[in-house]
Amino acid sequence: MEAYLNDFFFGIYPYIALMVMVVGTILRYDQDPYSWKADSSQLMRSKGMRWGNNLFHVGIILLFFGHFVGLLTPESVYHLFMTSAQKQWLAYTAGGIFGWICFVGMVMLIYRRLTDPRIRAITKPADMIVLLLIFAQLVLGLATIPESRAHPDGSSMIALANWAQYIVTFRAGAADFVLHEALIFKLHIVLGLTLVLIFPFTRLVHMLSAPIKYLFRSGYQIVRARG
Ligand code: HEM
Repeated sequence: MEAYLNDFFFGIYPYIALMVMVVGTILRYDQDPYSWKADSSQLMRSKGMRWGNNLFHVGIILLFFGHFVGLLTPESVYHLFMTSAQKQWLAYTAGGIFGWICFVGMVMLIYRRLTDPRIRAITKPADMIVLLLIFAQLVLGLATIPESRAHPDGSSMIALANWAQYIVTFRAGAADFVLHEALIFKLHIVLGLTLVLIFPFTRLVHMLSAPIKYLFRSGYQIVRARG
């Protein structure tokens, strides 16, 4: 039974989640484009939003890139610069710092959402569910750190990175890499995949239309020609 569940959650579920995300996102964009928004509550009250929102976004974006590079860089490539043990240390130190930045931001955002009557009035159940699921995912991620530190040779990290690399390159046998890994890693991965699965049905879609070019715009806006 354990082997079956392992095969399902780490061999099949990732593809179900990715498929629902891709197809669901395309369908939503096509069928319901006006629902495509971040549903920001800043208009209701901006006080308390700036710090919480910025800390949360800085933390989670750095975590995202950390996961991407950390899990998907092949061993042969990072061994040109560092050993597995050094990479393991870097992963949980950097991930820990970004994770705590994100944690502080999230606590501020959850507090604001629960205590401000104006924000509560416009909060849909889905908003609260997404916020709490991301928070749970963050707490599980931070809880993996002691487990990673218990394997200073990087053996767990290598197994987890192999799992991720086998999944994204469609190779058989990905689930075998995680079979004997600690439960906390497995819970973190399964909840992470669940966030991928529900992505198209939530406000998370705004990630795909983040106005990045605003960061680099000149600051001038020409309204009409002179004369
Ligand atoms: C599909 C989504 C995700 C997957 C597959 C995933 C996978 C992992 C894995 C395998 C580790 C252990 C890395 C190691 O020991 O080398 C880890 C750590 C961690 N994750 Fe995630 N994760 C996901 C999403 C998230 C999200 C959304 C957050 C934040 C909200 C997050 C926060 C963390 C933190 C704080 C750590 C510990 C520090 C670190 O090792 O980077 N993860 N994650």
